[in-house]
Amino acid sequence: MNYNADEKGYYGEFGGAFIPEMLYPNTEELRQNYIQIMEEPSFKKEFDQLLKDYVGRPTPLYHAKRLSEKYNTKIYLKREDLCHTGAHKVNNTIGQILMAKKLGKTRIIAETGAGQHGVATATVCALMGIQCVVYMGEIDIARQAPNVARMKMLGAEVRPALSGSRTLKDATNEAIRDWINNPVDTHYIIGSVVGPHPYPDMVARFQSVISKEIKSQLKEKEGTENPDYVVACVGGGSNAAGAFYHYLDNPNVGIIAVEAAGKGIDSGESAATSVLGKVGIIHGSKTLLMQTPDGQITEPYSISAGLDYPGVGPMHAHLYRSGRGEFVSITDDDAMKAGLLLSKLEGIIPAIESSHALALLEHKTFKPDDIVVINLSGRGDKDLDTYINYFKL
Ligand SMILES: Cc1ncc(COP(=O)(O)O)c(C=O)c1O
Repeated sequence: MNYNADEKGYYGEFGGAFIPEMLYPNTEELRQNYIQIMEEPSFKKEFDQLLKDYVGRPTPLYHAKRLSEKYNTKIYLKREDLCHTGAHKVNNTIGQILMAKKLGKTRIIAETGAGQHGVATATVCALMGIQCVVYMGEIDIARQAPNVARMKMLGAEVRPALSGSRTLKDATNEAIRDWINNPVDTHYIIGSVVGPHPYPDMVARFQSVISKEIKSQLKEKEGTENPDYVVACVGGGSNAAGAFYHYLDNPNVGIIAVEAAGKGIDSGESAATSVLGKVGIIHGSKTLLMQTPDGQITEPYSISAGLDYPGVGPMHAHLYRSGRGEFVSITDDDAMKAGLLLSKLEGIIPAIESSHALALLEHKTFKPDDIVVINLSGRGDKDLDTYINYFKL
């Protein structure tokens, strides 16, 4: 079984490029060039240098002793929360801004949910002196206010998406609309392993630095490159794709994807896409998505803006359907508790998205000698208001 994209961008039956005619030249230009550009020594050199000196990579692989004691297993946290800007998203935006420059683009657009991808995009645009417009749902603008302020300080224009559930899906629709209207000068920096081919594969490749580092760091600490399990939360699926990437073909490494169950899988207010989703097309890709029996997209819900998306990247749809990945859904309440627990046990306040991955520890029992790597995708600064209101701090 192949778990990477084939030449047409398919992961099993999922993926591809289902796009309006107007966007064909853009995605085709990218498709024809992305692998060749990524393999150019000068591109690699600049990408690696920026990851090191600007992002602060490699991020630590931290043995969480008190958390390990509590759950009677060996837990490592991959500290993507320590990346510049506070989450893994910047690995991808560094790659894509360099790609945009190679393609001669002079304007950048992006969508954002939690605001982390928006901040990461605004950051690299400031770094390169390129104009930046970020689309963000009106609800997310309210619940992730610090990130909106950061984007503005960085010189980006934040445009509210006012349709639908006014969250990530709707921001993505607006960004695609903008791209259709500005096909020549604009590059769309998609923030996850979603969208038409080649985006899911390109973003997964940029994020694969996460599992590349886990391998060498674990080798140094444990004498083996391979943990028993790698765990990551899945919104669109980019931090998970990066954490899983170099383990996809190794059946001895268990892959666990954690989705947002919101108020409960059967509550009608959730974002547990793999369990609830049916095959459909969203934002240019054939994948699993939550929809009504007549094919209308169901409005998703999660307390965490970054997981509040009705679809999932095609790689993850394939991991789910093929059985290679184990998929678990975690409610708002369980995620919030896990976030508080990590803060108190390890002195690390996680993003609520990452708290979903941590909450797995309450739902699955690992053996005492298992090595479990949890990808801590981001830090909780942006979520302080939500934590304050939830716990009445
Ligand atoms: C900290 C953090 N983790 C996870 C996610 C989910 O995105 P993805 O599934 O692409 O990693 C987000 C999205 O904004 C995020 O900010």
